[in-house]
Amino acid sequence: MKKDKVDAGFEQLESIASGFRASQVLFTAVRLRLFDALKNGQKNAEQLAKIVGADSRGITILCNALAGLDLIKKHGNSYGLSLLARKYLLTDSPYSQQAIWLHNAALYEKWGKLFDVVKTGKPIQWDEVSKDLQADEQSFARAMASTASFLARETAEAIDLSNTKTMLDIGGGPGIYAIEFAKRQPELKVTVMDNAPTLEVARENIKKAGLLDRIELKPGNALTDDLGASYDLILMSNVIHQYSNEENTKLIKRAARALNSGGKLLIKDFILNPCRTKPIKASLFAINMLVNTEKGNCYTVDDIKAWFKSAALKPSRVIIFQSPTKIVIGRKK
Ligand SMILES: C[S@@+](CC[C@H](N)C(=O)[O-])C[C@H]1O[C@@H](n2cnc3c(N)ncnc32)[C@H](O)[C@@H]1O
Repeated sequence: MKKDKVDAGFEQLESIASGFRASQVLFTAVRLRLFDALKNGQKNAEQLAKIVGADSRGITILCNALAGLDLIKKHGNSYGLSLLARKYLLTDSPYSQQAIWLHNAALYEKWGKLFDVVKTGKPIQWDEVSKDLQADEQSFARAMASTASFLARETAEAIDLSNTKTMLDIGGGPGIYAIEFAKRQPELKVTVMDNAPTLEVARENIKKAGLLDRIELKPGNALTDDLGASYDLILMSNVIHQYSNEENTKLIKRAARALNSGGKLLIKDFILNPCRTKPIKASLFAINMLVNTEKGNCYTVDDIKAWFKSAALKPSRVIIFQSPTKIVIGRKK
């Protein structure tokens, strides 16, 4: 067939249609702890099958695909770790992304029911996911910690903290943002608000960072419980996408009331362009909210500015991060 625009379009279509294959190869290997099984040296498929408790034909075909994807290396009939796997895919690597990929393996099962979700408008419940992948608040918090480690320091560095003494981190999860902000500004006292099981994970991280004296934990629901008061800064990182427009309006009004005059509210999230179709990572993340939540979505900068307006906050700055993440800042008069 003659190569023309139709062919290029078809290739794009085919890569969208087959994207699930490579994702599932990675998730299955992580779920089997196959990368950990290679940590101390090369193994053949028989040996690997014994270690991870799987079928040797299954492991052979899986490992060949993993090697084809350059996630592991093939040497004769044996397999070994690639540098990429050693850095990101081992349980005990300092850069380990294992928790987030296990979380994604669970999401994959939920996404597999997208058809039902779109037909009914109802999210998939956790008890519909394979037992070993069912996440509780603490495993979700650990997964959040592996992604937060990349962006938390950059976020703290992007904000002027010179006159900031008190901060509230709403939905602060594993505490990684609170830790980075506290490290950046030695006079800062931070309060992290989240549910109690999540805050146990935050406590472990804050203790490790030696910051228990400056970071306080406040269990509660920011939509209904007291937020405290007199904060110079309030952060909401990756929280608004769980909620509807109306819930976010309420949340932002509550946050605005808890700020000192001149205080700043930082909303950090996956932000859509005004057309709501791009960046593609944000419109696909909105699907993630569709399969997981009753009312969540991704939003635009203008949506956030409208919430600020209803809370009498003045939009002051938009910081563009690694796409599709943006920080939108509002200031209290
Ligand atoms: C996606 S995680 C983000 C964690 C962290 N802020 C980050 O950016 O890595 C969202 C967190 O917000 C918390 N959260 C959601 N709604 C909340 C509410 N109404 N009150 C307190 N915490 C909330 C969740 O429990 C979860 O830990």
